[in-house]
Amino acid sequence: MTADEALIEVRDVHRTFYQGEIEVRALRGVDLKVAPGEFTSLAGPSGSGKTTLLNQIGCLDRPTKGQVFVDGTEVSAFNKTEAAQFRLNKIGFVFQAYNLIPVLSAYENAEFVMLLEGVDAKERKRRVESLLSEVGLEGMFDRRPHELSGGQQQRVAVVRALAGRPAVVLADEPTANLDSKTSAELLDLMAELNREHDVTFLFSSHDPDVLERSRRVVRMDSGKIVADERKGEE
Ligand SMILES: Nc1ncnc2c1ncn2[C@@H]1O[C@H](COP(=O)(O)OP(=O)(O)OP(=O)(O)O)[C@@H](O)[C@H]1O
Ligand SMILES: [Mg+2]
Repeated sequence: MTADEALIEVRDVHRTFYQGEIEVRALRGVDLKVAPGEFTSLAGPSGSGKTTLLNQIGCLDRPTKGQVFVDGTEVSAFNKTEAAQFRLNKIGFVFQAYNLIPVLSAYENAEFVMLLEGVDAKERKRRVESLLSEVGLEGMFDRRPHELSGGQQQRVAVVRALAGRPAVVLADEPTANLDSKTSAELLDLMAELNREHDVTFLFSSHDPDVLERSRRVVRMDSGKIVADERKGEE
């Protein structure tokens, strides 16, 4: 993979947090390239820097040192406004706690990012209906989050992340609150969406199901990448 082919490129990224006298070196020189269409997980012990790394890629935080490029743009140089705009257009997020808006229906939650993006009503309807049906939620469009199971809520969150046609979906421990059968189903669904919509997925996870189903597993420890395993390649 050359630099031009990488959808995500992290170059010698450091992130240090200061808590009073204490210095926490959450990332200590991370280099990573992710090509378009990958289905990759970040693995590693609690505190190894997985969320911190996803936050740099998702323009939710900035490195202390180093550079991050997403889809050819240096996101580590953004100010807050530029970061917010880029996130909206290019990045889909799926969180551990689903983060759906409680007063909105499944349909309304799913179309939310597109509303912010200014996608017109007809196109929103087309994308939301087809994606919600694709993830098996037909007949549940009007339900509020509390009327859906955890697995169903996470499917709505996945649809919301994909509906804005992002370049990459970042999912931080997306299965942490799901039982293992529901996790496996959600993963299979995301793998199918990855193939059919050609969207790149980058996860962080401890979940063996996630790691088993990922085509590439990048292992972190103490703020560094310590292994990078690709499956199914000679
Ligand atoms: N905002 C912050 N302020 C201070 N320290 C932080 C902050 N965010 C993360 N850290 C520290 O940085 C290190 C890496 O944290 P991070 O959340 O990236 O780990 P993680 O690999 O995602 O862990 P987990 O598997 O538990 O989610 C930890 O030592 C953590 O305490
Ligand atoms: Mg984390």
